[in-house]
Amino acid sequence: MAEWQRTHTCEQLREEHVGQTVTLNGWVLTSRKYGNQIFVDLRDRYGLTQVVFEADAADLFAQVGEVKSEWVLSITGTVRKRLEGATRADIPTGAVELEAKTLRVLNQCPPLPFEISEFGTELANEDLRLQYRYLDLRRRSLQKVLILRHRLCKVIRDFMDANNFLEVETPLLGKSTPEGARDYLVPSRVFNGEFFALPQSPQLYKQLLMISGYDRYFQIARCLRDEDLRADRQPEFTQLDVEMSFVEREDVTGVMETLAVEVFDTCLGVKLKTPFPRLSYAEAMSKYGSDKPDLRFGLEIVDVTDIAGASEAQFLKDAVAAGGVVRAINAKGAAAAQDAKKSPLFSNTALKPGGELAKVAETYKAKGLAWLKVETGKFTGSIEKFFSDELKAKLVERLGAADGDLLLFVADSEAVVCDALGALRVHLATRLKLYRNWWEEKAEHDDAEKKKADAAKKKKETYAPVPFQPRPEHFNFLWVLDFPMFGWDDEEKKWAAMHHPFTAPMDEDLPHFGKNEELGKVRAKAYDLVLNGYEVGGGSIRIHRQDVQSRVFEILGMTIEEAKGRFGFLLDALASGAPPHGGIALGLDRWAMMIAGTTNIRDVIAFPKNQRARDLMTGAPAVVDERQLKELGIKLK
Ligand code: AMO
Ligand code: AMP
Repeated sequence: MAEWQRTHTCEQLREEHVGQTVTLNGWVLTSRKYGNQIFVDLRDRYGLTQVVFEADAADLFAQVGEVKSEWVLSITGTVRKRLEGATRADIPTGAVELEAKTLRVLNQCPPLPFEISEFGTELANEDLRLQYRYLDLRRRSLQKVLILRHRLCKVIRDFMDANNFLEVETPLLGKSTPEGARDYLVPSRVFNGEFFALPQSPQLYKQLLMISGYDRYFQIARCLRDEDLRADRQPEFTQLDVEMSFVEREDVTGVMETLAVEVFDTCLGVKLKTPFPRLSYAEAMSKYGSDKPDLRFGLEIVDVTDIAGASEAQFLKDAVAAGGVVRAINAKGAAAAQDAKKSPLFSNTALKPGGELAKVAETYKAKGLAWLKVETGKFTGSIEKFFSDELKAKLVERLGAADGDLLLFVADSEAVVCDALGALRVHLATRLKLYRNWWEEKAEHDDAEKKKADAAKKKKETYAPVPFQPRPEHFNFLWVLDFPMFGWDDEEKKWAAMHHPFTAPMDEDLPHFGKNEELGKVRAKAYDLVLNGYEVGGGSIRIHRQDVQSRVFEILGMTIEEAKGRFGFLLDALASGAPPHGGIALGLDRWAMMIAGTTNIRDVIAFPKNQRARDLMTGAPAVVDERQLKELGIKLK
């Protein structure tokens, strides 16, 4: 070992090392001068150690005076106990410090584009941090995330292995697999004018593996989809992809629930209860206006079409006459909250068109948001006059309305009403603080603990902060089942697969499956896993018969030739001894988000793309040179 190389990491030193001579390697997090001493906090990916330089070692003292943040150092010295009152209970090395004897500068750097410390400073803006991601990744919180992702994958691999699943790699260069997004294409040099499609998922390969007899497959697989990005979507993301033979839905959901229990226990110390609740798609949509409802709070949506249709309000009557629905949410106590002047959100002025709540509804194409307030046993509000006493009594009963409640109505087509009230439900819950994200609770907890530690320090005592422990109720898992098989695409004027075209119809709906006019009634053997309002997994039992698969392609508007051209290999494989099979894919990045405590998917990916699908660090995508294009037979317009 060379003289400068570390004997310990920056996380290892404890009281038992006092008196030993050790060498640390790391980066300068901070350096500060106090009279006759200079303190350097040296950091590596394991932790932090305080190094002290004493003024009596004059040369060394002068040398460390030159050292700047983020320089790379090797420091040899003696471990000693910290002075009473100078110990830190919040870091594992907090009882000791290193008294420096030798300092070697391994590398220097100019002042960096932003400060890497997370303490007491605002984070630099995200674009800048993404541009210098290698610096951003030095931050403790990002280190923790990468360590967590590693652990997550490790638990998953161990679990799948113990349950007889084989990890098999599938190609990146392949043919388009329809998952509903746009493909990323890769031009072929050998076959000019022809393209590979990067996989939106390993869907077809894993089904082919079942036909090959590998009855339990998994893969931690990269998927690529060229779609509009959101806070929980990246063009390149990771799935735990799973497929099983000779199974029914409950076998797949059962394995995934057991896996979830293992993951949450190992990664967060949270003991989840199984089985997870199940909800049909129809119920999820009608009660919560979403196929991925957040059930940490109530605010259920209630149908009042019959009552509203009998009122004198023209817009309500019109919506019902046009075949639409009228549904409502009872925001319990919201009207009273406004009385207390705590929540101008619910004042009569704020509820007008263009107000905050109306805007939420309008974003989802609602024409407006009607409302009623219940005050001392009476309704008030703009549509009050349209309801007879009898209808009012019915509303009170249906919506469980009481003094202080605010009732919010949307009248429109069922799809618009679901979207608008579904979004409003989440918005209201956030504004009324009806749920807490575990990391918000943790922030408050940590703050309070820090105050206790600071107070103790003033009294020259030590206080070890109690770490926050998330609880099972912070994680609301549920299965959404019985999705419709097809959705009508009004733009393209044709049926589209709700999950993907390889999903099997429910046996009891097969009579509808044969009739074009009844396709809207066919439900699929598909299931989604939802966590706190996020879709964190989706899968289905597959079609394993060639005739059924051909019929689906036909329904989706493919001619026999087209279907053979695109999926001939699958149709042939299905005719060569395909076992009944099914599977699922979990969105691993979204799992990492929920476990790491963030709502931004970029926070849990080492090198993410920004919202416009650009890699700000490397600059990709980028122009390529003429020669490359020529080889590929591509001419740019
Ligand atoms: P699906 O398309 O539902 O199913 O994807 C499975 C899960 O992957 C996650 N996910 C994403 N995460 C981040 N960024 C994205 N752009 C993104 N898109 C999807 C979601 C989703 O639930 N082949 C099927 C699975 C199967 O049928 O077995 C599939 O890919 O959490
Ligand atoms: P108006 O009939 O225009 O006086 O509207 C009365 C209230 O109903 C206003 O707050 C409108 O925003 C709202 N509103 C109008 N159309 C709809 C609709 N289709 N669904 C729900 N509320 C609506």
